Order: sequence, then structure tokens, then C-alpha cells
Amino acid sequence: MKVLVYGSGGRDHCLADSYGDSQHVDKVYICPGNPGVLFTPKGKRGLIEVVRITDFNELADFCIEKGVDLVDVGSENPLEEGLIDVLAEKGIHAIGPRKEYVKIESDRAFTDDLLREIGVPKPEYAVFDSPDDAIKYVRNIGYQVVVKANGLAAGKGAIVCDDVPDAEQAIQRIMVDKVFGDSGNRVVIEERKYGEEISFFAYLDGKHVMPLKMFARDYKPAFDPDDTESIELFGGNPNTGGTGCYCPHRLVTPWLINRIIKEIVNPFVNAVYNKLGWDYRGVLYFGLNLDPYNNLDVFEINVRHGDPEWEVIARKLSTDLFEIGMAVQEQKLDTIKQVWNKQYYVDVIAMEGRSRASRGWNKGYPGRYGKGHKIEGLDEIERGIAIYFAGVDEDPEKGLVTYGGRVLHVVAGAPTLEEAREKAYRNIQKIKFVDHNNNNANCMRYRKGIGL
Ligand code: GLY
Repeated sequence: MKVLVYGSGGRDHCLADSYGDSQHVDKVYICPGNPGVLFTPKGKRGLIEVVRITDFNELADFCIEKGVDLVDVGSENPLEEGLIDVLAEKGIHAIGPRKEYVKIESDRAFTDDLLREIGVPKPEYAVFDSPDDAIKYVRNIGYQVVVKANGLAAGKGAIVCDDVPDAEQAIQRIMVDKVFGDSGNRVVIEERKYGEEISFFAYLDGKHVMPLKMFARDYKPAFDPDDTESIELFGGNPNTGGTGCYCPHRLVTPWLINRIIKEIVNPFVNAVYNKLGWDYRGVLYFGLNLDPYNNLDVFEINVRHGDPEWEVIARKLSTDLFEIGMAVQEQKLDTIKQVWNKQYYVDVIAMEGRSRASRGWNKGYPGRYGKGHKIEGLDEIERGIAIYFAGVDEDPEKGLVTYGGRVLHVVAGAPTLEEAREKAYRNIQKIKFVDHNNNNANCMRYRKGIGL
């Protein structure tokens, strides 16, 4: 069987890797992928091949020509641009929602209103199209809020605020400075909740739902809480798409999984199938919070796997991913048996840190970051560690170089969380991003507290 994964980030590389492990699959294409994939064992032996086709119709023709049996679309942007619709029109099996259904992620207010209507718990919120009205609201309520861009923002669109001036500044940045472009024309202002975040996933086939009986913990803030120097430099601790992850989450119990399915997943999926009448086939990502009083709340729902959550959940899942993918297509999710191995997994993301720019300094991800730094040390990584590439490129002289803010994932597994952490950190320390403008210093940065 042949699979094509559409995407270029760490999650997409990980999806391609898992399909490559399937007993049914002898070829995985990744489009547009990234050059890092070719530096991995599966890339070197041609099991995973990078293809670069930007036009969706051409991609569909490629799938027909090569006899691709299944396409898995990893990220939200191609879904919103209608990739699934184009593939479906040409009779190609693909996992992911149609363009219309991406609204769940690309229109926060729509989903929040739906959740409120069906009685699924979520924090208090209000929606604004005008910055003046939004500012009046935060001054009036006085309590701490999270200001969210209503549209897609690569997982970075939520600004967590400590006080009213903070919230006013967030409204200014999203609605007036347009840091997330048109996604910030509308904002959702949500009561700030305390507790522990949970990333929970479910597969849907248009008829059944298969909630994954496992969940992960993402680390969204850019810096460790004790990294006061960086927090001061950035004027706060901004949210990122995720800086690392671990699984199983320390709160995983059959009791909590059952509660999540009963209180959140089932009512929402029921609304998707029966209230909206949607034939949704793909993944739903539930970003949840468990507060100190044991109340669950929905922070967000997305139409794709989480990144970096998928990189740890996929390692723990022993069920053949191709079988799940085909079950989504054939509406047979009820026949899938979930098998989870006994390991703990920790993903630490190597990011672009502070580097020398042509004038002055780059602050590093999630601020302005440098590119083209040679990546060294990959050949010293121990066997059994998974490296998933994200923001990388290939340079004719330097080989693999950095290209994005989140550059690569180091994922380690072990029988205990402590050992998995130790292994991930021991290996990430072997990697260096060479800052050629700064005496070849290492400009790689990573959070130290993943899994703590
Ligand atoms: N890790 C957060 C996200 O994928 O949106």
C-alpha cells in the first residue's frame, strides 16, 4: 500500500514515520515534507520519499498516477484551502475534514457558541469585532482573561493576560497591529482558567467515534517559568505552538478518560453528526483544562493532530496507523482495537535561540529568529531516539541547516518518565546549531522542564 502525508512539520514527519512502520505499507510520500526526512533511516532507504507539488489538482493526479491508497493531511491550512475536497472529487481516499468543517478550528466563536448551546463546559467568553468594544469589556469585567484571535494562527493565537492593561495590549496586538493577519479581525475573550492542560484526540469516520484512550501534555509557553532573563527580554512568556510534550500525561486514568468522553467528546461529536449533519472523517483535537476543583473545560477544538502531542502519542500507539486510516475511510472505526505500549515518551523541541544577525541580534523563536545555521551532532544520537524534523533546509555546503523557529523534535521513550526525560535531554545536548556569525557558538535553545 502507498500513503501520502501532506505537511512539512514535525507532526507530519512523525505521521509519515508511523505509516512507514505499518505492515501494509511499502511507500510513504510526504509533500512538501522537509529535507530532514531524507537524513533519517526510512528516508535514506527510500521508504519515505519527499515530493514537492503545490497545486492540489496536480497532487491528486500524482496520487492517481502512483496508486496512492490513502492521503493523510496533517495541518489545518491545506484543509482550510480545500485539499480534501479536491482529493474526494477525484475519488482519492483521504483523512481530514472537508473545507466547510474546518470552521471548527478556523472560527473559534462558531465552536464556542455550539459548545455553549449543547451544554459542554467551557470558560465564560464573549466575541468582539471592534477593539473599542473589546477594551470596554475587559475594563468592565476586571478579572484575568485570555484574548484569542478568532481565526487560524498556527497554534499561537491565544494571549494569556495577567491584568487589564495586559488584555488591552493583547487586543491592540491582535485587532489593530494584526500580528495574526485577518485571523485577528474578530477576537474571543475568555475567562482565564487555572489547572492542568490536557490534549485529547478522537478519530471520526462520519458514523463512529474512536476516542484515543491516552492523552498528552503540551508545553505552550516559550520559556521555563524560572527563565526570568528570557521572560524579561520578551516582556512576558508568550505562547508558542508547543515547545515539548510528554505522554502518558500524569493525570491519565480510566476514570478521567471516561469523563472526557462522556462530558465532552460524545456530546460534541453527536452535534457534529446530528445537529450539523456533517460527514466528518478525520481527527478532532480537544484542548482541555482540569481545574483544581476537578472541573473540565474546553479551551479549543482543532481539526488535526496536535504538534508536538502527536509525536509522543504516535510512539505510544502500537495499533497499525494504516489500519486506523482505512477504517476512517471505510467507516469501520468500531472494529479497531487500540493497543498502547508500556513506555513513557518525552519530546523536547530544539528551537532557534538567540543568534547574531547582520545588524544586532535575533531574539530567537517565538520572536525574530535566524536561519541557515548548520545542524551538527545528529550522527551522535543514540539508537531508539526518534528525531522528527520541522523547520530545516538543505544547504549545498553546510548540509542540513535551520530554517524555522521550531527546528526538530527529540523523542525518547523509556519505562519511566524520569528515564525518558533523562534520555531526551542527554540526546538533545549532542545537537548544535552553529552560529557562524558568532564564533560558531551554539544558538539552539530548548525548555528544560518538559515532563517535570
Ligand atoms: N500543540 C498545540 C497545537 O497543536 O495546536
